[in-house]
Amino acid sequence: MSTASAASSPEMEPNMTASRAFDPSDDPIFEEPVFTPEARFIQAPGKINLHLAVGEPAENGYHPLVTVFAAVEMWEEVIADVTNKPGITLTMSLVAGSLVADQYQAGAFDPADVALDETNLVYRAAAAVLAEHKLVPEDIALHLHIAKAIPVAGGMAGGSADAAATILLTDNHLYEAGLIDEPTPFERLDAIAASLGADVPFMLRACLDADHPEYASIAVGTGVGEKLEPIKRHDKADLAFVLVAAPFGLSTPAVFRALDEGRAQGVYPEAGDMSVPEEVLRALTGKGMNQQVRASILAPHVRNDLQEPALNVRPELRERLSNPLALRGFISGSGPTIALLAPNSAAAMILAMELREAGLFAADTTLL
Ligand code: C5P
Repeated sequence: MSTASAASSPEMEPNMTASRAFDPSDDPIFEEPVFTPEARFIQAPGKINLHLAVGEPAENGYHPLVTVFAAVEMWEEVIADVTNKPGITLTMSLVAGSLVADQYQAGAFDPADVALDETNLVYRAAAAVLAEHKLVPEDIALHLHIAKAIPVAGGMAGGSADAAATILLTDNHLYEAGLIDEPTPFERLDAIAASLGADVPFMLRACLDADHPEYASIAVGTGVGEKLEPIKRHDKADLAFVLVAAPFGLSTPAVFRALDEGRAQGVYPEAGDMSVPEEVLRALTGKGMNQQVRASILAPHVRNDLQEPALNVRPELRERLSNPLALRGFISGSGPTIALLAPNSAAAMILAMELREAGLFAADTTLL
C-alpha cells in the first residue's frame, strides 16, 4: 500500500512525500491543514496520451479506445486524516509553483469551481470503497485533503489521479481502523476505479508503489481505457516534454461530441487502424537509446483523434502546437493542455523557461 505517515521518518517510499508546508504568498489557498500523526499521503501523477485512437461510440455514449497512457513527473497529493466528525470532508490547496498555481495567480483558474462536496470524484471514490464493504460515510470520520498541482479539466487526468489515490487511501483507512479484516483485493479496487471514470484504472496503477505487481506508469489502454496492458521497459524511457496549460478547461464529453459530429459530416477521418504504431512502442521499450533518439522515433507517430475536435472547440490552441525547439506538439487527451516533445531534458527546460517568459503556463517534465 502506497501510504506514508505524516510523522514518519525521512525514509519514505518512492510514491510518497511529506506535506509541503511552504506558502510563499500568505494566500490561504496555498495552506494545508495541520495533519495528525495518523494522516496518510499518496502522490498521484498526471498523464499524457502518446497514442489515442477513438472508435465509434457504443450505445451508452462511450467510445472504444486504443491509447497509450504515460504518467509524467508532475504530482499532486491526496492526504487522508482521521477526524472526530462522522462522514467524509474535503479540502483543497494548491501546490506553490505548480501549473495550477500559475493559472490561479494569473486569474485563469478559480478554485471555487472545484466543488468540495459529495459530487467531487474524490468523495465518490471514498464512498465507493465504503459501499464495497456495505459501509456508508457516517460509519467513518475521514478528512481528505487534495494538494492540487495538475490543471483542472486539462486533459491530464488530475481528478482521476486524485480519485485513484483516494481509493487506496480509503481502503487503507478502513483496514487500519479495523473496519475490514484485510485490504480489498486489487481486482475489486480496479472495478471501483473503472466505475468512476475511464482514466481512473490507469491512475490506480500509477499511484501504487513501484514494486507492487500491478504498478504501471505506461500502459496500453483498450475498452474505454480501463483494460490495461503495462508496457515493460528495459531502460527508463525518460522522454522530455514541456506541458503548456491553457487559461481555460475543456469538457471531455464536449470534445468527444465534436469528434462524432465532425466524423458524421466527413470533416475528420474515421478511426481506421486503431493499433499502436510499432515505432511508439520502440521509442518506449528500445534498449540503450538516449532521450533524443527515442524522441525522434516517437515524434512522427504520436496520434490523438481528439486533437482536431479540441482545436475546433478552442482554435486559439493551434498556434501553440508548433515550436522550433520541439520535435512535435500535440494535445494531451481531450485537452486543452499541450505536450511539446523536446529532444532532451535540457531543451525542455529552456523551452519551458522561454514560454513562461512569454506569459504562458509551462513546465518541463519527463515520463515517469
Ligand atoms: O470516464 P470519464 O468520466 O472520464 O469520461 C468523461 C466523458 O468522456 C464521458 O462521459 C464520455 O462522454 C466521454 N468518454 C467517451 N469515451 C471514452 C471515455 C470518455 O465518450 N472512452
